Amino acid sequence: MTALRTNTSNCHLHSRPHRIFYSRLFLRGPLKPVSALYPGSFDPPTNGHLDLIERGAKIFEELVVGILRNTEKSPMFSLAERLEMLKTLTAHLKNVRIEAFHGLMVEYAKSIDATCVLRGIRAVSDYEYELQMALMNRKLEPTLETVFMMPADKYSYVSSRLVREVAQAGGPVKGLVPEVVEQKLREKLEPAYRFHDEMQEGRAPGAKEKKRKRKS
Ligand code: PNS
Repeated sequence: MTALRTNTSNCHLHSRPHRIFYSRLFLRGPLKPVSALYPGSFDPPTNGHLDLIERGAKIFEELVVGILRNTEKSPMFSLAERLEMLKTLTAHLKNVRIEAFHGLMVEYAKSIDATCVLRGIRAVSDYEYELQMALMNRKLEPTLETVFMMPADKYSYVSSRLVREVAQAGGPVKGLVPEVVEQKLREKLEPAYRFHDEMQEGRAPGAKEKKRKRKS
């Protein structure tokens, strides 16, 4: 009589992906949901920031956007204004929270039980600074991992600094920042925008003269 032999190698539970899954599960237990911190100055928040927040919200259980209360720099928008703008912009994302912090980022991350830091990389030029910061943060707190994500390529040249520069000269920032931010910039920099618009329409003192010179 031939013995009944079961061919376990054909059973799907013994397939390679399942073996890896179960061995990892028993070795280190199930993976915990990750709570991440996305720190930054957000002065002002741009469409690139928002794009990254939306991407982060899809992969992390909870995402805390931490606005640095920076005492060294004099920001264009107060902390209260940045908090308000970001809260409005992320109201539709239920696992996103907006907070302010000061001092060391790694200490703040620990205090909110974040195990991961999210940062955006737009181009190679960002990499050096981000790498340096990530490694310094790792030295300060080895258990905190930094995760880099890329915003949509249409925002790869957008930065808060350039937005401020364009807006301070009354230039258009449509498409670079969300509408609420655009509105706030217009309110804050009203004289610059008025002058720019008058120049465009030829109403500002000297504008006609300038136009004539350009034509001749
Ligand atoms: O948007 P930014 O200005 O590039 O963000 C920089 C930020 C806020 C993430 C960074 O300056 C920071 O973490 N500052 C907090 C102080 C700190 O921990 N410094 C050590 C960084 S290695």
